[in-house]
Amino acid sequence: MKGLEPHRSTMLGAATTARANVNVALIKYWGKRDAALNLPATGSISLTLDGLWVEASCAFGAGSNDDCLIDGRPAVEPDRGRLLRFVDLVRAEAGIEAKAAVRTTSGVPNGVGLASSAAAFASLALATSRAAGLRLEAPALSALARRGSGSAARSIFGGFVEWHRGARPDGLDSIAEPLLAPSDWDVRVVVAVVSSARKPVSSRDGMKRAAASPLYPAWVDAAERDLTIARGAIAARDLEALGLVAEHSAFKMHAVGLAARPPLLYWLAATIECVHRVWALREEGTRGWVTIDAGPQVKVLCDPADAHRIAAALADVPGVERVLTCTPGAGVEVRA
Ligand code: DP6
Repeated sequence: MKGLEPHRSTMLGAATTARANVNVALIKYWGKRDAALNLPATGSISLTLDGLWVEASCAFGAGSNDDCLIDGRPAVEPDRGRLLRFVDLVRAEAGIEAKAAVRTTSGVPNGVGLASSAAAFASLALATSRAAGLRLEAPALSALARRGSGSAARSIFGGFVEWHRGARPDGLDSIAEPLLAPSDWDVRVVVAVVSSARKPVSSRDGMKRAAASPLYPAWVDAAERDLTIARGAIAARDLEALGLVAEHSAFKMHAVGLAARPPLLYWLAATIECVHRVWALREEGTRGWVTIDAGPQVKVLCDPADAHRIAAALADVPGVERVLTCTPGAGVEVRA
């Protein structure tokens, strides 16, 4: 974490609580150029979603052990190890050895099957660094959050966000930056929850497998072009151009996995049915564009005026457990 230029501020011992929202990638991050530093093979672009948050609080003190609670329960492996490796990075940066009391609470409704590691590590980056006496600016917070989970680098910011691949071996230029604030462009993301079960292959393991796919080099090669198109579409508030390139990015990501050995297939029958419903609606003039992450849920980018019709159509698909409609959300913030 060298080069983050910390400024000491708060007293050791004081607890800090921070909250961050999840984000949905429109141009996907799917592959790493450095697994140890968690550096991505490509840039990515996302939208932070309001109302799907994780809150983290942290205090460093004189205890003899680290104490971690996730949603009120003692953290168990592998989550505990991942969380404490992250806390160790902060301790090293702050030059402290004090034990940590860390609590995370998820505001993502139970059973919506949405991975919340992006919101968790974004809120942990702010809470743990402040509690350790560091006052990091947003770019340094983004670099720190990235070490916990790549997509967390983007949840530091609200609205439309780009996370840069960067070229430096130390990763200091692999940080996210906001493209548009949440209030700059009013769009909706309709989420069809197809399964609330924990995904069988984590993003991390999925990316490892995908990197050996024969389609992986083509995926990486095309990323810059997709990023340029998405950046331009966001600047022009062109929903169709953004939706089409987002759909393309998502299907390419899944194609890379399908061609891996063993194949990676995150979709269930209802996932595919949702995609067909969205495409059928589009033929009829209700415009929505799908994206799918490392799981079976389908997320649909659309105009606010079309969100209700899309949500109703997806709620009707057999196998869909529930449907949520999200607005653009804010970046990470300290809670009183
Ligand atoms: C499909 O950020 O969860 O959601 O960096 O290994 O923790 P790690 O992976 P993670 O991967 C997210 C993958 C994705 C696409 C995306 O969010 O860009």
